[in-house]
Amino acid sequence: MEFNFGNLLFMAVLLCMGDAKIRIPLRYKRASANNLKGTTVTGYYITVNLGTPPQTFNVIVDTGSSNFAVSGTKTSFSDSFYNKALSNTSIDTTLPTVDVHYTEGWWKGNIVSDLLTIPSANLIQPVRVHVADISETKNFFINESQWIGILGLAYSSLVLPKNGGLWSVMHDIVEQTTLEDILSMQLCSTPTRDETQGVLLFGEWDSSLATGQIYWTRIVKQWYYDILITGLKVGDTMIEVDCEELNNDRTIVDSGTTNLRLPQKVYNLVVSVIKTKLVKDDFDDDFYDGTKMFCTSEPNVLFSWFPNLSIFLPSTEANKTIELTVFPQSYLQLTEGLVTETLLGRSCYKFAIFPSTSGSVLGTVVMEQYYVVFDRGNNTVGFATSKCAVLPTTSIQIRNGWINSTSCQYISHSVKSPLTLAAYIVLGLFCICLLPVCFLIAYNFFRKRSPGIGCCSGSYNQLNDT
Ligand SMILES: *[C@@H]1O[C@H](CO)[C@@H](O)[C@H](O)[C@H]1NC(C)=O
Ligand SMILES: *[C@@H]1O[C@H](CO)[C@@H](O)[C@H](O)[C@H]1NC(C)=O
Ligand SMILES: *[C@@H]1O[C@H](CO)[C@@H](O)[C@H](O)[C@H]1NC(C)=O
Ligand SMILES: *[C@@H]1O[C@H](CO)[C@@H](O)[C@H](O)[C@H]1NC(C)=O
Ligand SMILES: *[C@@H]1O[C@H](CO)[C@@H](O)[C@H](O)[C@H]1NC(C)=O
Ligand SMILES: *[C@@H]1O[C@H](CO)[C@@H](O)[C@H](O)[C@H]1NC(C)=O
Repeated sequence: MEFNFGNLLFMAVLLCMGDAKIRIPLRYKRASANNLKGTTVTGYYITVNLGTPPQTFNVIVDTGSSNFAVSGTKTSFSDSFYNKALSNTSIDTTLPTVDVHYTEGWWKGNIVSDLLTIPSANLIQPVRVHVADISETKNFFINESQWIGILGLAYSSLVLPKNGGLWSVMHDIVEQTTLEDILSMQLCSTPTRDETQGVLLFGEWDSSLATGQIYWTRIVKQWYYDILITGLKVGDTMIEVDCEELNNDRTIVDSGTTNLRLPQKVYNLVVSVIKTKLVKDDFDDDFYDGTKMFCTSEPNVLFSWFPNLSIFLPSTEANKTIELTVFPQSYLQLTEGLVTETLLGRSCYKFAIFPSTSGSVLGTVVMEQYYVVFDRGNNTVGFATSKCAVLPTTSIQIRNGWINSTSCQYISHSVKSPLTLAAYIVLGLFCICLLPVCFLIAYNFFRKRSPGIGCCSGSYNQLNDT
């Protein structure tokens, strides 16, 4: 287990402040209006107001990172940008230039402080936040995507620069308003997937956006929204793997990633089981690695060939397990095909499950089926079948039975299964004989495990998918 100083500090601040403010519970409110737009491929975005007088832009909403950043100059993709000189509430900081890398692409910028409101998401009263004024990028902005920045909604421990003493936007919102420490998200893809909509709410969740109950699972570490998977099922076949492998080295709920990503070993097993289940075998490796699409005039037939996937999560209810279903309608992603395909009346699909070197990622192809509540105050993430789900059928179930999920948590820097003394002695003797080899192995082991703090990797992966 790594210690997380961001959170300790956070807790200390809360303790010192006591319960000075009365938080107004805003849950179960009116039906919320759609305030998210975008496309599955270029991301979901929201309109924010920054500065005084307010400058208005669209920024992508990303639960897989924690920095807030907006283009500070005109780009070849958009004329609009944040002009801090025109804001009489902007304050420069002396912090070093931040440089945030995603799996592909990066941006660089200076940290400024200014006032933020997002009225459509309950954030009406201005909140002073830190924002990176992006001055340089590579492969970050997407032409015609409509957004010019990113709103990272995860925990303070991921904020860059790492030792700059900065809080996340979520933390600032909760500190400076009466909103509860909750964030909820409904992502709705449309049948054509090109004018998606959705709802993002601060401080509440709106039960009218869900059908049926919300089921809660624990957040195991506050950096990303890091939860545990205790099992995976393809059709009726359980994936036979130590459950720690499912969360190696984390499992995150990430609105900034398009796909469902699984650790390489788990991914290999899942794909091999899917292959055995297929009624028809028209798919080669190019299809599974996402480089080739499958085009058909009868998508429902295509979907019927593929199995449903189940993701099991430990419930906060004693001895219960949550089963999330991911339908082929979600993990086979509609993709723009060639004009000739369109002329033939065919639509094209891409396999949206990918391998990962940084744990499991429940990206938008999973989130689009659910209304997801990030209840930071209770340290839980809740899932309910979304009113705008890809398939309206109930896709979440509560099962009796459980496994001790502690054993599923990926533990870095420590030997997990306790070796007996005898084993240590044998290992010791072995190592003395093979000292040079052991040294090399150990060296590589620790080098690989050294924690590159989660800033950059994994999150916001949709840039890779285009
Ligand atoms: C900042 O701008 C707003 C809107 O233009 C104005 O109402 C306010 O008085 C200005 N504040 C200062 C300190 O200049
Ligand atoms: C963006 O797309 C538009 C329309 O397709 C095109 O005219 C423009 O040149 C593109 N801009 C860049 C920077 O690629
Ligand atoms: C997947 O789940 C849906 C909804 O429960 C069901 O209608 C469908 O038959 C399932 N598919 C398979 C292959 O079992
Ligand atoms: C849960 O299971 C444990 C061990 O099997 C048992 O001791 C406990 O009573 C159960 N709790 C509930 C609420 O069923
Ligand atoms: C979260 O915590 C609050 C206050 O402690 C409590 O009222 C509420 O029921 C909790 N929610 C869940 C889902 O446990
Ligand atoms: C789960 O396992 C951990 C160690 O692996 C143990 O400490 C804990 O008591 C177990 N919890 C339950 C409820 O059995």
